[in-house]
Amino acid sequence: MSRREQTGLEDELGPVLPGPGASDYERYIRTDELLALQKTEDERAHHDELLFQVTHQSSELWLKLASTEIDTATARLVGGDLRAAIRLLRRTILGIKLITEQLDMLELMSPWEYTSGVRPELGHGSGFDSPGWNHLRRAIPGAGEAFHVLRRAEGLSLADVYRRARTHEDLYELAETLTELDERAGVWRIRHLRVVERIIGGDVVGTQGTPVELLAGLVHRKFFPELWDVRNELTGLAKAEEEG
Ligand code: HEM
Repeated sequence: MSRREQTGLEDELGPVLPGPGASDYERYIRTDELLALQKTEDERAHHDELLFQVTHQSSELWLKLASTEIDTATARLVGGDLRAAIRLLRRTILGIKLITEQLDMLELMSPWEYTSGVRPELGHGSGFDSPGWNHLRRAIPGAGEAFHVLRRAEGLSLADVYRRARTHEDLYELAETLTELDERAGVWRIRHLRVVERIIGGDVVGTQGTPVELLAGLVHRKFFPELWDVRNELTGLAKAEEEG
């Protein structure tokens, strides 16, 4: 007998939401549909397909959230609401951190079992076609553009945002949040590259015929190079003042 039945709460606390599932938890979270999105044991060519699908599917979910939040954040920036935008951008950043952590799970697969057991099941499937990552990487520059519009409206150069940070706290915090976002996206790329090198090797071609070497090139790409360059400028300015 369930706890609810024992306490006689069955009727009172029974499901009220529409849809499949025995409880409102299952109905709201849509667990039936969610848990049917992975191959069944019979359908799996290799045991590790579950690990592979779960890691990718959950990454796509976090990327969906990260993308939605950055789109809304950019709209808030266009409307001049910096605080709301920063709050939402933190969710995007955490989403990227979470998918970075999740990559650990893939390293619990043996390279041989992956290449011989899982990879043949993927067809031409490639991370280049990840809807979540592609949305995110296209959305990130828009947030940067909105930031530059706001700082220019205040008559500030990028270096001014840092030198006069205490009188422009929100712009400063936004600049640092965008830098954090850029850093986290780069850390994901580096971590992903290491996983790829560890599992399939660094001198091979991917499922769409792209050399893994190409991924190594992407690792150095920055969304906001100017936010990194400004640090050189600040170091130079501080030195000039010191000497000056
Ligand atoms: C066994 C694990 C993995 C392997 C061996 C792997 C392999 C690769 C390879 C070889 C590429 C280059 C493109 C190609 O030829 O396919 C790539 C790109 C990519 N993969 Fe993975 N990957 C793995 C896990 C993941 C996971 C968990 C994600 C999570 C979303 C992911 C997302 C991506 C993305 C977004 C790209 C494009 C890279 C970029 O734009 O910087 N991969 N992957």
